[in-house]
Amino acid sequence: MSAPDVSVDAPPRTHDDSPFVRACRGLPHERVPVWFMRQAGRALAEYRAIREQHTFEQVVHTPELAAEVTLQPVRRYGVDAAILFSDIVTPVQALGLGVEIRPGVGPVVEQPFRQPSDLDRLRPLEPEHDLAFVLETVDLLVRELSVPLIGFAGAPFTVASYLIEGGPSKSYSRTKALMYGDEATWHRLMERLADITLASLSAQVAHGASAVQLFDSWAGALHPDDYVTYVLPHSRRVLAELGALGVPRIHFGVATGELLGAMAAGGAADVVGIDWRVPLAEGRRRVPTGIGIQGNLEPAVCLGPWEGVERRVRDVLAAADGAVDHVFNLGHGVLPATDPAVLQRVVELVHGEGRVGDHR
Ligand code: CP3
Repeated sequence: MSAPDVSVDAPPRTHDDSPFVRACRGLPHERVPVWFMRQAGRALAEYRAIREQHTFEQVVHTPELAAEVTLQPVRRYGVDAAILFSDIVTPVQALGLGVEIRPGVGPVVEQPFRQPSDLDRLRPLEPEHDLAFVLETVDLLVRELSVPLIGFAGAPFTVASYLIEGGPSKSYSRTKALMYGDEATWHRLMERLADITLASLSAQVAHGASAVQLFDSWAGALHPDDYVTYVLPHSRRVLAELGALGVPRIHFGVATGELLGAMAAGGAADVVGIDWRVPLAEGRRRVPTGIGIQGNLEPAVCLGPWEGVERRVRDVLAAADGAVDHVFNLGHGVLPATDPAVLQRVVELVHGEGRVGDHR
């Protein structure tokens, strides 16, 4: 990797001229930018080597390790952006809610949220204190990186689903039971989680993150009407208030084909991430003009032969049609069984073939 491009005392670069930030803003740039959700992690031997010595939580809580793991995919793949190594439950974990991240399972909550009095357990987040280790990681990264750093947080619904279910879920029945059964408590919970999300993202930007992504990973489990009534107002407030900070805002969720229009409505997001289940051209139609799109190669395609990967990458590029506001990505996270060499070739192919403005 090239040497750090700024000295320790220089102010962090904003990367406003980078292809990634320009694409998020719909401004002309040379080539299609590409990064991968979950690009850091178990697909990389160098990540697994660190994980043999340290737990996931130790990595996240040790700025040098978290920064190193964030840099690994940038070195290996040559992606156009780094994403902070942390987790969507890190802020609520820092509030002492008894959240643990179990390998192969995901976040697990010791005493799940079940009643109105549980709201008292959610005090406001003080990022400089509660998330000092995260912000120190951001500080280290913005000095080291020659590409933009994406900060992120879980959206209120997705974080709430872990707090209420107590862990991963397929049906989200407890979450939905609270949502339908006690609307006042639901909205108060969502308001508090939105405040926590906003505080975390604002602090990451204050420390030099060049863009943010709001992960509402499990929002696709909702009926569109319920999404609009119970969830969107809270996510939209987070995105709208972040607007004052001036960095691009990406809004993503899994299986959100029927929610894309709502996720983009109101212009609170600059870019909407398209899940791999939605043909990208159809995703483009569902997201209003003026808002960018990110995605959306099916991650599992990368487990098959290169010829298939190449064809599907070209399909995504063709569907994006050279649009200035397309950011290439997978349609969800890198699967741990993925061969890193394949992702490296995907980056080379996108950089080689994905010219902006080709078809306009
Ligand atoms: O590379 C990156 O994208 C940055 C790091 C990152 C992680 N989690 C690291 C991680 C990011 C952005 C996340 C976000 C996250 N965490 C989401 C939203 C993204 C998505 O997939 O929709 C969600 C839903 C979570 C909750 C969570 N944390 C899950 C489902 C898991 C995986 C459990 C497993 O082991 O299969 C985690 C743990 C986790 N977060 C790992 C990593 C690399 C695996 C931990 C390990 O090393 O064992």
